[in-house]
Amino acid sequence: MIKLHHNEFKPFISSQEIEKAIDKMVDKISKDIGDIVPVFVGILNGSFMFVSDFVKKYPKPCEVTFIKLASYEGVKSTEDIQRLIGLTQNLKGRTVIVLEDIIDTGNTLAEVHRIFKNENVKSLKIATLFYKPEAYKKDFKIHYIGIKIPNKFIVGYGLDYDGLGRNLPEVYQIKETQFMTNLVLFGPPGAGKGTQAEFLKTKYNLVHISTGDVFRFNIKNETALGMLAKSYIDKGELVPDQVTIDMLEAEVEKNASANGFIFDGFPRTSAQAKALDTLLESKDSSISAMIALEVDDEILVERLVKRGETSGRADDADESIIRNRITEYYNKTAILKDYYSAQNKYYGVDGVGSVDDITVRLSNTIDKL
Ligand code: IMP
Ligand code: MG
Repeated sequence: MIKLHHNEFKPFISSQEIEKAIDKMVDKISKDIGDIVPVFVGILNGSFMFVSDFVKKYPKPCEVTFIKLASYEGVKSTEDIQRLIGLTQNLKGRTVIVLEDIIDTGNTLAEVHRIFKNENVKSLKIATLFYKPEAYKKDFKIHYIGIKIPNKFIVGYGLDYDGLGRNLPEVYQIKETQFMTNLVLFGPPGAGKGTQAEFLKTKYNLVHISTGDVFRFNIKNETALGMLAKSYIDKGELVPDQVTIDMLEAEVEKNASANGFIFDGFPRTSAQAKALDTLLESKDSSISAMIALEVDDEILVERLVKRGETSGRADDADESIIRNRITEYYNKTAILKDYYSAQNKYYGVDGVGSVDDITVRLSNTIDKL
């Protein structure tokens, strides 16, 4: 995995595969051309690496030149092709093979044809190392194709993302997951987790997945997974992690357009944390941070006793029960704090102050992820 300008890319085409594709192209082109001395015209910047490897393998005399065009902005092809360096030699009567690193929409190729329109070359053929058939919108014939690829942005082997990545010897593909911000939200009872989750949800377009709610929903609606979970609960056994993970996966898939998730009440063990990592990895994504609201025990007790006076919640009524719950929270979450700290993903946020103050602190933490 590599990161360029805040975008993640995953390995896609190895240098060996690239080399094999170029070998085939060299073979085919040299056979088709025979003993004529061709002029290979590389399209800069992207094609420099391809042209270099291609001509090194070309078995017979040839000429090499370049033109320089620019069209891409970030990860999008634009209609507006700029001709930065045009042809610098007369190619009248010559056999020309254009060497492109990649053909996407074909806009660049259209410009190449405009450039050669009045050159009176003997023949003009187009060769491209990479080709995105789903993106191609023109009718120009592409005579030689190295590797067909899906319509996803790639970098490496000459291709860049806003200037970076050209030097990579292999090709990487952009990770297109929508799930960019995935938070594991923790906080002792009374820390204000629920209130803050509501706010984070709206501000960052996240889906709040509370495992308790997911269980209740699946059991109430008698889904297959709900019934399975219930069979364990009824026997007084713990629901196996895989059942919970499968429910969470269904929730994640239900919300494919979310910007990410707030996991609340899960994971509780490092085995569950690992399972959650695997689930997100399968969606090209990952946990961004574990955020724990930190509140001094005495303040928590004070808050919960107060809440008990009005809410009537039995577990808020007794101070010793409250203290127990807080202790249990720290016992249980210590291991997760370690798990995420080891990945530099643990963020403790001061949970004392007004709701707005805490919201600002949480936003500051998330904005920096
Ligand atoms: P087209 O004009 O849309 O065919 O795009 C061709 C040019 O866009 C190439 O020469 C590249 O410079 C750039 N390009 C197209 N697709 C990609 C990609 O996936 N990664 C990096 N650059 C690309
Ligand atoms: Mg190019």
